[in-house]
Amino acid sequence: MTPILVTGGTGRAGRPVVARLREAGRDLRVLSHTRRGTVDGVEYVHADLVTGEGAGDAVRGAGIIIHCAGAPSFRKDQAMTANLIRAAAGLDPAPHLVKISVVGAGRVPVAGPADKAMFGYFASMLASERAIEASGLPWTTLRATQFYDALVIVARAMARLPVVPVASGVRFQPVDTRDVADRLVELALGAPAGLAPDFAGPTAYPMAELLRDCLRAAGKRRPLVPVRLPGKAAAAVRAGANLPAADATVGRRSWEEFLAEQKP
Ligand SMILES: NC(=O)c1ccc[n+]([C@@H]2O[C@H](COP(=O)([O-])OP(=O)(O)OC[C@H]3O[C@@H](n4cnc5c(N)ncnc54)[C@H](OP(=O)(O)O)[C@@H]3O)[C@@H](O)[C@H]2O)c1
Repeated sequence: MTPILVTGGTGRAGRPVVARLREAGRDLRVLSHTRRGTVDGVEYVHADLVTGEGAGDAVRGAGIIIHCAGAPSFRKDQAMTANLIRAAAGLDPAPHLVKISVVGAGRVPVAGPADKAMFGYFASMLASERAIEASGLPWTTLRATQFYDALVIVARAMARLPVVPVASGVRFQPVDTRDVADRLVELALGAPAGLAPDFAGPTAYPMAELLRDCLRAAGKRRPLVPVRLPGKAAAAVRAGANLPAADATVGRRSWEEFLAEQKP
C-alpha cells in the first residue's frame, strides 16, 4: 500500500483524519510547517505549502493526498493549494488528491466590496477547488459546513465584546469534525469522485441560537444585537446559499451532543 499524505493533519479537520487512518493501520505521513520527526507514532514531514519549500519531498511516493491545510489569508490559502498541486503533478503514478472545501463555495456570489470583505472566503475556496479540477490529477472535493469547534472559537472571541453582533436571518448547519473526518477518509480510500455531495451536521439553526449556546457553554451572558448585513452575498446567505444542498450527506453527531462534551 502506498503512503497517504495528510496536509493540515495538526488542524481541526486534519487531526481526526490522522486518528482514523492510524486506527485503520494505514501507512501515513503528515505534512506540517511547524512539526517534524515522529510524535506519538505519527511521522511529520516538514514543508511550507505557502512557499512550496519541502513540498516535493513531502509528497514523494504518496498514493493519496488529503489536503486539510488552510490559512486565514486567502492569498496564502490559494498558494498552499497551488504549491501542493505543483508538487503532486510530478508524481508517477498520479496521486488521488482529496480536498476539504466549504458548503456554499460556488453558490455564495462574491462580487462587490461588501461581499468580498465579509464572504471572500467562499470565493477563495472556490478558486482552490477550480485549481484542483484543472490540475489533471484524479481528485475529490468535499464541501463541509462550519465545524462545531470552529464556531465555539468564534463565539469565544466575540464574547470579549460587551454586546455581540449577530447577522440577522442567517442560519448555519454546522458539523462535527469527527464526522467530516470519517467522510473524508471514506472518499480518500475510494475512487476519485470529483465534487462529492455537500456534507453537514444533522440540523440547521439560526446564528443567534448557535452563539447563545456557545456563550452558555462558556458560562457567559451577552446581549445579542441583530445586524442586517449588506450586499448580494449576504442576501444569498440569508436565502440559504451556505446551507447544504438537498442531496447532502449528513453527519451523525448533533450540536447538542457536541455541546454536552464541552468544558466551561
Ligand atoms: N473551520 C471550519 O469551520 C471549516 C469548514 C469547512 C471547511 N473548512 C476548510 O477546512 C480546511 C482546514 O480547516 P481547519 O479549521 O481544520 O484549519 P486549522 O485548524 O486552522 O488548521 C490549519 C492547518 O493548516 C496547516 N498549515 C498552516 N500553514 C501552513 C503552511 N504554511 N504549510 C503547511 N501547512 C500549513 C497547519 O499545520 P501546521 O501548523 O502543522 O503546519 C494546520 O494543521 C481549510 O481549508 C478550511 O477553509 C473549514
